[in-house]
Amino acid sequence: MEGEKTPIHPHPTLLPCLPADRHQGRGRNKWKDFHMKGNMEEQLIQKIHQRKALIGIIGMGYVGLPLVLRFCEEDFRVLGFDVDSKKVVTLKRGRSYLKSIPSSRISQFIRSDHFDVTNDFSRLGKPDCILICVPTPLTEKMEPDLQYIEKTTEAILQNLRKGQLIVLESTTYPGTTEEMVLPRLESSGLKVGKDFYLAFSPEREDPGNKRFTTHQIPKVVAGVTPSCQKVVTALYSRIIQKIVPVSSPRVAELTKLLENIYRSVNIALVNELKMLTDRMGIDIWEVIEAASTKPFGFSPFYPGPGMGGHCIPIDPYYLSWKAREYDFTTRFIFLAGEINVHVPYYVVAKIQDALNARGKSIKGAKILILGVAYKKDVDDARESPALSIMNLLQKKGAVILYHDPYIPSLPSFRKYSFRLNSSPLTEQLLRRIDAAVVVTDHSIDYQRIVKLAPLVIDTRNVTKNMKQWKKKIVKA
Ligand SMILES: NC(=O)c1ccc[n+]([C@@H]2O[C@H](COP(=O)([O-])OP(=O)(O)OC[C@H]3O[C@@H](n4cnc5c(N)ncnc54)[C@H](O)[C@@H]3O)[C@@H](O)[C@H]2O)c1
Repeated sequence: MEGEKTPIHPHPTLLPCLPADRHQGRGRNKWKDFHMKGNMEEQLIQKIHQRKALIGIIGMGYVGLPLVLRFCEEDFRVLGFDVDSKKVVTLKRGRSYLKSIPSSRISQFIRSDHFDVTNDFSRLGKPDCILICVPTPLTEKMEPDLQYIEKTTEAILQNLRKGQLIVLESTTYPGTTEEMVLPRLESSGLKVGKDFYLAFSPEREDPGNKRFTTHQIPKVVAGVTPSCQKVVTALYSRIIQKIVPVSSPRVAELTKLLENIYRSVNIALVNELKMLTDRMGIDIWEVIEAASTKPFGFSPFYPGPGMGGHCIPIDPYYLSWKAREYDFTTRFIFLAGEINVHVPYYVVAKIQDALNARGKSIKGAKILILGVAYKKDVDDARESPALSIMNLLQKKGAVILYHDPYIPSLPSFRKYSFRLNSSPLTEQLLRRIDAAVVVTDHSIDYQRIVKLAPLVIDTRNVTKNMKQWKKKIVKA
């Protein structure tokens, strides 16, 4: 990290930037300030263009880590920050803890000195550009939990220096950047657009998606001032093919929420229709497949066991909360949430009915959950509907086992804690259980499972072409 030793901008403690100094010098240094501003902006843009800018990324998770790699690929040096010292040590050893990122990609950039990582936040004065990728969960009362952004902003504030660009990437409600982050950073006495740059740019990472890589996914950016917009555009256009500038951080913040609300509402719609078509004796999957042949005006969404992940079940509530400030109730968001939360109960009722039809009670039944991750071929079980289904089944006295090739053991979650390890799919196991429930459609051999298991509850249509075993398959 050669550049760290020779920072172009002196540390703030060495600069005359206290509010009192600025007041005294305001008239006298007007032109000097104007030129400095121009120079500073140009200097930073030039540093970015020449790939000499040091990039700081806070939060080495599903969003932060792919960004690290993308900047390193483009020959930038990156300093990663995380409060989790286990992650810091793992990365320093050149190892990955995310299935979607092979260790070789981390070790390659650690060895070439492109990537370093730390839990020492006093080093936040070093990077020229700082991207914030920390969690934005909900509190118990389903309200935005901004403690991670707050702590991060405080750490940046302690080390903020002239000429730095700060970008918030975490998903949040419209107004967070300008109402929360900006005043805190300006309490340093430094002025946005003049002394430092601030922007919001939402992450669109889709873990496990092999069709789109980070650099192919267009990036929405919004600076707090025109200067901020110029600098942030310069930064992301180095690593992303298409930049989409919008007029304000609030627009960018709401853009991300709209994307997730759109998914939440449409998933709720097909989930509701699935419950109706079940009563009507119509296969919803066949209906969606047919509707999808319409070349315009229809985008398919698919039903499932309920909604999961750390974005779609959570992010819409960030907007609902903010809407209250405007005496507004976001009815679509609540209705979608209500329906999606209900789906695991529907799935459990279908399991119960299927067992009942075979003369079995749910109490004491051995039920194998296939897939606990919130979506196909990822190793992330946060907010997964599998957890809710397992909890409901356990409450009814079922004996739960699970198999997930990506999650060898279940950690503790926000609401649930199961002490379970993934069971290997042996023939003995599949013959011994009372039912297998396909919750996540991981790429595994379903033919074999359906052949061996006595009963299969399918929430993902993986058994679509298995007509020969129709009698032991129940769609749910
Ligand atoms: N994962 C996705 O697919 C995805 C997609 C788009 C947007 N987002 C949004 O991006 C943000 C980050 O999500 P994620 O999935 O990467 O979360 P994550 O939990 O995978 O990673 C967050 C990381 O931040 C670290 N952290 C927590 N507090 C910190 C602090 N004060 N300082 C430094 N590090 C801290 C955690 O240890 C963790 O390593 C969230 O707002 C999320 O909604 C996520």
